Amino acid sequence: MNTKMNLLRLLLPVIVFALLASCGRGKFSSEPPVHLNPNMDNQEKYKAQSENKFFEDGASMRTPIEGTVARGELREDDAYYRGKDASGAFIPNAPMVFTDDMRIRGKERFGIYCVPCHGVNGDGKGKILEYKYPIPPANFFDERIKGLSDGHMFNAMSEGWLNMPSLKAQIPVDDRWAIISYIRSLQQKGLSTP
Ligand code: HEC
Repeated sequence: MNTKMNLLRLLLPVIVFALLASCGRGKFSSEPPVHLNPNMDNQEKYKAQSENKFFEDGASMRTPIEGTVARGELREDDAYYRGKDASGAFIPNAPMVFTDDMRIRGKERFGIYCVPCHGVNGDGKGKILEYKYPIPPANFFDERIKGLSDGHMFNAMSEGWLNMPSLKAQIPVDDRWAIISYIRSLQQKGLSTP
């Protein structure tokens, strides 16, 4: 009898825990889950697209004050950030020496962002042609494209060019230069079938 009671006493917490843990499992509920220790998980805040009566325009999201630059956002170097010189003309050559590391990185990024349109080997025959894109993407082995300055290429990626969309939101500045380093090495090697 005594040992039985002892065993029950020992098992009781296990049974209670199992019952508690199984509560509500697998059931759907529109109520938020019970949060025993909320810490600072739920705080009052304004969400990006939410309304805010405090400001005149009623928006929570604020635009930077004119003439101010957020920390780390100063982009003074025209050559590096825009592919242009002080007069606004495209720079003939990239503002850095292309390295093997850049070409490796560039090849990878090229594969992600340019291949769907410009083709695996850069001949302009990407998958997009099957989807009736209004204009065929440039062939990087055309004499005219080979002759484009690095600054012009950088600008095409950053701002888009005629029927090519801007990719600056997807590709950071460093990677854009890396892609150019890879395209230049492709052009030097000449068109090849992959
Ligand atoms: C959505 C398809 C698309 C993607 C993605 C794309 N391009 Fe293009 N690109 C085009 C088209 C189309 C043209 C031809 C534009 C025209 O002449 O109207 C073009 C033209 C160009 C040109 C020639 C610009 C000139 O002066 O004629 C360069 C350089 C170029 N692309 C580089 C790139 C690079 C580098 C990438 C990848 C980072 C890329 N493109 C990604 C569609 C694309």
